[in-house]
Amino acid sequence: MKISTLLSLAGLAVLSHGAQVPRDYANNDYYVLHLDRSTSPEQVASRLGLRHEGQLSELEHHHVFRAPKFDEDVVKRQIQERKRRKRDVGGSDPLDSILLSSKQKPRMHLEKRMIPPRPEGLPVVRRQEAAPPSSAALQKQAEVMKTLDIADPIFNEQWHLFNPVEIGHDVNVTGLWLEGITGKNSTVAIVDDGLDMNSNDLKPNYFAEGSWDFNDADAIPAPELSDDRHGTRCAGEVSAARNDVCGVGVAYDSRIAGIRILSKAIGDAEEAEAMIFKYQDNQIYSCSWGPSDDGRTMEAPGILIKRAMVQATQKGRGGLGSVYVFASGNGASNGDNCNFDGYTNSIYSITVGAVDRTGAHPYYSELCSAQLVVTYSSGSGDAINACYSGHGGTSAAAPLAAGIFALVLQVRPDLSWRDMQYLAMDTAVPIDDGVAEWQTTTIGKKFSHTFGYGKIDSYAMVEMAKTWEKVKPQAWYFSPWIHVKKNIPEGKDGLAVTVEVTADMLKAANVARLEHVTVTMNVEHTRRGDLSVDLISPSKVVSNIAVARRLDTAGTGYKDWTFMSVAHWGESGVGKWTIIVRDTEKNGNKGKLVDFHLKLWGEAIDADKAKPLPMPDEHDDDDHNVIQTTTLQASTTPIAAGTAATSVKGNPSDHPERPTKNPAKPSGTEKASPSGTNEAQEATSSASSSWVSWLPSFGASKTVQIWVYGAIGLISAFCCGLGIYFWVARRRRLRNDSRNNYEFELIDEEEAEGLNPGEKGAVGKKARRTRGGELYDAFAEGSDDDQFEDYRDRERSHTRLPGDDSEQYVVGDESDDESGDEKAERKPLSGPR
Ligand SMILES: *[C@@H]1O[C@H](CO)[C@@H](O)[C@H](O)[C@H]1NC(C)=O
Ligand SMILES: *[C@@H]1O[C@H](CO)[C@@H](O)[C@H](O)[C@H]1NC(C)=O
Repeated sequence: MKISTLLSLAGLAVLSHGAQVPRDYANNDYYVLHLDRSTSPEQVASRLGLRHEGQLSELEHHHVFRAPKFDEDVVKRQIQERKRRKRDVGGSDPLDSILLSSKQKPRMHLEKRMIPPRPEGLPVVRRQEAAPPSSAALQKQAEVMKTLDIADPIFNEQWHLFNPVEIGHDVNVTGLWLEGITGKNSTVAIVDDGLDMNSNDLKPNYFAEGSWDFNDADAIPAPELSDDRHGTRCAGEVSAARNDVCGVGVAYDSRIAGIRILSKAIGDAEEAEAMIFKYQDNQIYSCSWGPSDDGRTMEAPGILIKRAMVQATQKGRGGLGSVYVFASGNGASNGDNCNFDGYTNSIYSITVGAVDRTGAHPYYSELCSAQLVVTYSSGSGDAINACYSGHGGTSAAAPLAAGIFALVLQVRPDLSWRDMQYLAMDTAVPIDDGVAEWQTTTIGKKFSHTFGYGKIDSYAMVEMAKTWEKVKPQAWYFSPWIHVKKNIPEGKDGLAVTVEVTADMLKAANVARLEHVTVTMNVEHTRRGDLSVDLISPSKVVSNIAVARRLDTAGTGYKDWTFMSVAHWGESGVGKWTIIVRDTEKNGNKGKLVDFHLKLWGEAIDADKAKPLPMPDEHDDDDHNVIQTTTLQASTTPIAAGTAATSVKGNPSDHPERPTKNPAKPSGTEKASPSGTNEAQEATSSASSSWVSWLPSFGASKTVQIWVYGAIGLISAFCCGLGIYFWVARRRRLRNDSRNNYEFELIDEEEAEGLNPGEKGAVGKKARRTRGGELYDAFAEGSDDDQFEDYRDRERSHTRLPGDDSEQYVVGDESDDESGDEKAERKPLSGPR
């Protein structure tokens, strides 16, 4: 074998492991450059005086370059210089091949922010501690344990798997186990703060090949900091083995991988690598984290991470698509909502919220129109027992769902990432808690912003999967940007804008029926938290795509922010879509709806005509006058053509001053016009914030009607426009990314309500005893999770020496840690940081 072949094989081996060399951010700068095919990375490196470090994981044409540490973004500067010179002297230059440049800024290590205390005045509703288990249920439980040879000492406490007290409030999985469906040959990766692969409960199922530590740049994602316990707990819920240790995972024969990213600052480059790490082998990525749930943060993943996720849904799992599961977030009591988090409102993630063992909505679990389903977690005085008995929050719900999806993949490994969403949606069971509002959707499902389509029923989901006919590929229709530029009246009335989508448009776009709907919008406002937005479909299903957030005082409004809804699943999409933007507070803070862009995603009519979505671009939403590349490729119709051509001729790059130029309806009926505004405000002044009461008065004649119709016969103009567009788009891509700067926060797993002291103390003790000190104590009590007074009292008497607390814990000194009305939040002392 030639030496060069050997070398390239070695190179491949290194590359296939993701992070090849530990990146030394202390002494170097790193740039990720997206290059076109015309120039090699080596040419670019030598031109810029950087060192080429290799491709960024599997992301084609994305390369990592290293430079000596320097404050300035040297690549950006050189690109700008080159542009200036190009205007004067022209010629060619390797820099012309750079489509995107992103200087990596590792985010500072963040303290894990504690879950907010219970809001004052919210009563603690505890489940009846004395309620005895049903003897029939206990008998069934015993039979299951005997038949399956389950000897795990805390299985009896794992009510989320089998609940003998609140009958029916569990994930209904034992019937599947009895059929041999236990997650065999399925793989879940826990993207988190590490995974204790040496614990006796995880060792048998640990999947080393799919694991990586992006914080320490090695192959072993073992927990290292004293508070690296979160990932191990999540992993236990999925894949704790059936043995004599602790309990079992919901998919106890599945493989479990650990991808460690949360323990130190990392750049977008590493996060992108993590999100697609070994995506042919890791099938499901379970993510119990996200931007802060403080009720004022509004953050989305950076472009490299977005691209990684899009690529994973197209190429991961042999083209079936990686399945991402995200916890909805724990900020409900801060008024937070999962549509303000760009991970949970991505169409590529299944967002999972929580329901507690009494069937109630836990006060922390965030609501939103992007939430697909919920599953069991902490609340009403109890939590999830996955070796450690105080696991909870939406952090515990996501892995439970991921484990159930692993059961589905055992039976049907051929299902796509969208099939998984269909199955979850279709088999979820609505929950009647007497509080949540439910709407009946167009396809006869119940949807609630509190619980999505309801709780996952493992048995029902796998049963349906067995005979599921796979859906056709994805297709999409993007409306042009709808330019509104109208003030939003303060108060309940709001500003309504209607867009009509015709059957022909969807046919031309190859869209048969809807799945996700997204709305990208620009709203100027001096107090962002005052705003709310509803999206109403042609069949009058209402999505609260944005809600007012009392703590969000940002003066920035919404900037190209994309909201998402799953409530319109199965609709045809044909008809009038309305958005209503409200300024809910009369406080002198005012704003204006600038423009928005409706995107209907769904199943293709003709699979042969379907194409993969082009990689997202950081400036996808900049060209407010241009139909996006993606649409051009999807709908090769006069509609897109006419619009694109018109727009390009208009004012393609100017963000603030966008001409209101929508193609007129061919028949000459109404079209968008600024004069419609007063009428709209008048019309909607009769609307109230309750959708029920304004629906009847919601008339076509009363709202602004912006008819979006395609002009026919503009194909040649389109071609011309397309050329200009690509030229403009390419130039624009050279700009630097301004969105790769965001922070992470663990969605912490506990709520500050009292646990059932008797049970917890007993279980915790037993669990520890069983481990015999062999388990990494990620599973153990004693950490940030330990904030239950009565629980602690109990614990002390069992296992801790008096005064132990003060040695292990410090009472939080940050405002974040202000104690709630009942319990002091505590946080662990820093580990070896
Ligand atoms: C739960 O699983 C059983 C089989 O074990 C099945 O008969 C039942 O329909 C499932 N769902 C519910 C809600 O009970
Ligand atoms: C296990 O899964 C892999 C890929 O996911 C597949 O190729 C293989 O056939 C499966 N094996 C079994 C026994 O199902």
